[in-house]
Amino acid sequence: FSSIPEAIEDIRQGKIVIVVDDEDRENEGDLIMAASLATPEAMAFIVKHGSGIVCVSMKGEDLDRLQLPLMVTQKENEEKLCTAFTVTVILEFFVAGKFLPTRETQIRSLPTNNFNDFSSFHSLLAIPSELGCGDSYAPDDAKLGTTTGVSARDRATTILTLASRSSKPEDFARPGHIFPLKYREGGVLKRAGHTEASVDLAVLAGLDPVAVLCEILDDDGSMARLPRLRQFAQKENLKVVSIADLIRYRRKRDRLV
Ligand code: 5RP
Ligand code: CA
Ligand code: ZN
Repeated sequence: FSSIPEAIEDIRQGKIVIVVDDEDRENEGDLIMAASLATPEAMAFIVKHGSGIVCVSMKGEDLDRLQLPLMVTQKENEEKLCTAFTVTVILEFFVAGKFLPTRETQIRSLPTNNFNDFSSFHSLLAIPSELGCGDSYAPDDAKLGTTTGVSARDRATTILTLASRSSKPEDFARPGHIFPLKYREGGVLKRAGHTEASVDLAVLAGLDPVAVLCEILDDDGSMARLPRLRQFAQKENLKVVSIADLIRYRRKRDRLV
């Protein structure tokens, strides 16, 4: 395995890393990256090579702010590991009937990213840079293509909006194509899952506590196990780290503070 500081550095740079859990847990490798640094290119890679479910791990306080309740309450959750799926979301911009891509519409809200820079959203949504909230906008269908919410660009935009500190409940429509997951406070020290590992890595990298994850399936559709994950990682130049190492890293760090 690569070291945790190496993975933290990659996450900080917006790169994708592979995180494996215990063999006696899911025995899975997930592609993980910081949500605040999501790009259409990274999402295209994740969808192609992960081919699991694209999820966004987030803290309870952010899910509350965005009014995203659990899909099934913790008490009634029947999933083996109590994976904490919330209702699914999509950026409201993509919802046909509300903002028909071909219809002139008013820009109601434009989510900002962490750097208060609208430019990434403008370019992702093909909005001319001089336009802002309250302006009328006739989307350029040719540039936008079909906005179903599931393209790599649409997913990147929804994910960036989830990661934005200034996003609001009304930025999203429910249900959608992105699956937020609720992070257990205390992270991997309380629950040794990919949900907690991904947020912990983003925080250790000094980024907002929101992360993208997607399980890696092998070409035949079975779960990719370690030997295969290592092969893939080498080919794509990705680091592989384990949640067990992350737990050790966090324990050691906590002792030092
Ligand atoms: C979401 C999943 C994955 O296993 C994902 O890794 C999150 O779950 P966990 O936190 O339990 O590892 O089920 O598709
Ligand atoms: Ca799972
Ligand atoms: Zn998992």
